[in-house]
Amino acid sequence: MSLAPQDTALRTWVRRLPKAELHLHIEGTLEPELMFELAARNGVALPYADVDAVRAAYQFTDLQSFLDLYYAGASVLMTEQDFYDLTMAYLRRIHADGVVHAEIMFDPQTHTHRGIPIETVFAGLARALREARDTLGISSYLLLSFLRHLSQDDAFATLESALPLRDAYQDLWIGIGLDSAELGNPPEKFADIYARCAELGFMLVAHAGEEGPADYVRTALDTLHVARIDHGVRSSDDPALLQTLIQRQIPLTVCPLSNLKLAVVSRLADHNLAQLLRAGVLVTINSDDPAYFGGYLLDNYLACAQALDLSHDELVTLAANSLNASFLPIAAKTRLLDQLTLAATQA
Ligand code: HPA
Ligand code: ZN
Repeated sequence: MSLAPQDTALRTWVRRLPKAELHLHIEGTLEPELMFELAARNGVALPYADVDAVRAAYQFTDLQSFLDLYYAGASVLMTEQDFYDLTMAYLRRIHADGVVHAEIMFDPQTHTHRGIPIETVFAGLARALREARDTLGISSYLLLSFLRHLSQDDAFATLESALPLRDAYQDLWIGIGLDSAELGNPPEKFADIYARCAELGFMLVAHAGEEGPADYVRTALDTLHVARIDHGVRSSDDPALLQTLIQRQIPLTVCPLSNLKLAVVSRLADHNLAQLLRAGVLVTINSDDPAYFGGYLLDNYLACAQALDLSHDELVTLAANSLNASFLPIAAKTRLLDQLTLAATQA
């Protein structure tokens, strides 16, 4: 799809707005080119002839049809260098989109269950994140995410294996997330481990209300005590819940192109992002798994601007929401919000 000249101008303007990405799975940034490179490097056989065949396979009907490919793709990630290369490629890409801060989920169980040590995963991610902080000026945090289709005991074992690394990565690993197959795996399945993680002082987020019902958003808030909801678009089915989200200003990390690709909505024009925003919900725009869903952060902003007729002021509010909903300290937020105000007024 080619952009009209006015869209190119809008793209340049939105790119210059300082933005945070708060809902991003690092395993979901694995582009087919890198998948093939790593497969060759590690001697992993892929069930695809070439990168075009991989892209052609990205026809998803629901969350599970995506997760099957996503976990299969991650099998090429084996060494510290692989995790570094994956993360660095993502950071370079978002730097070009005007992202100044990223809160990145990673799924240790996807790797430890294949025999990859959790130390390898942390080391590769952290080397890239620290290098990007120093060379690109992008700050970042890590959210260790549990796979909800597995047991809470498995999540506890993962937490135990990660805790000895906490000191070494205290500048990065600040929080906990919950992802994978939502339906049938409600938040309360993980109540005990979230209570433990709260005691340990971690920031808490969880996917809820993507494919699952609004009630999962409610239990993520009431039972897991999360500070932020990943997705949460089904919240609009429950007006009382919506009022709670508005009153408490609970951020929703919405992923519009993901919702389109996974058939959560059938057309972007039907997405409730603008309605939620206009109702006073603290919504943010994010890319989720950009290598699989056809767009990085700026693509998500632009696609929404077009499909939902977002005004310039609304785009600035969305960027401000992303900074406000981040786990950055207040001084860093204030500095970035000031930069946003300045950038927004520049043509
Ligand atoms: N939902 C649930 N689990 C996931 C997703 C998602 O959108 N992306 C990667 N893991
Ligand atoms: Zn997600």
